[in-house]
Amino acid sequence: MLNTPKIGVLVSGRGSNLQAIIDAIKNKELNAEIAVVLSDNPKAFALERASKAGIETAVIELKKFKAKDDYESEIVKTLKAKKAELVCLAGYMRIVGPAILKEFKAKIINIHPSLLPAFPGLHAQKQALEHGVKVSGCTVHFVDEGTDTGPIIIQSAVPVLEHDSEETLSERILEQEHKIYVEAIKLFSERRLVLEGRTVRVLSPRG
Ligand code: GRF
Repeated sequence: MLNTPKIGVLVSGRGSNLQAIIDAIKNKELNAEIAVVLSDNPKAFALERASKAGIETAVIELKKFKAKDDYESEIVKTLKAKKAELVCLAGYMRIVGPAILKEFKAKIINIHPSLLPAFPGLHAQKQALEHGVKVSGCTVHFVDEGTDTGPIIIQSAVPVLEHDSEETLSERILEQEHKIYVEAIKLFSERRLVLEGRTVRVLSPRG
């Protein structure tokens, strides 16, 4: 078995994806260690989830810095101090800028609640309903300089039902998010993700 990779999780809010990662590690479905949970929002419920699980947390607020670059350099400093090898965005509500991207090239992943490239950005589930699609879902992707534009690692489709509200559709998608995010981290930690241009090749498990 490979060594246990350390991950840094960036959050801004509720933290249900963080919880899915915590639970998967606890249940030994995932061989990884959350080295730190970083939040730009001191009130994020994700911080409570992390503390409850005995995980170190840090709050780094953009407003405390003169420039976004300085804010991101502080994030990088904290991630490096904790020896994070993979950065997982889990409901982190900011665009990742160059200061983080250059330090963690092809080592930042994100979960998004739509089948990208459809409906990037905010309120993806609402966008899907308004467009009238019959199928939506979620995507785990590598993070690049765009908004939800990076190479796709895993996607999961869910049906959009006739009487869906934003809440019911979000709930159905969220169930899948929790599964594929853990799966993507597992693939990364087993070094089974190979980037070829903007395509991610998934290698078979070593037997
Ligand atoms: C999820 O829907 C995720 O796809 C999106 O933001 C939401 C975060 O939820 N990026 P949570 O904080 O993980 O509960």
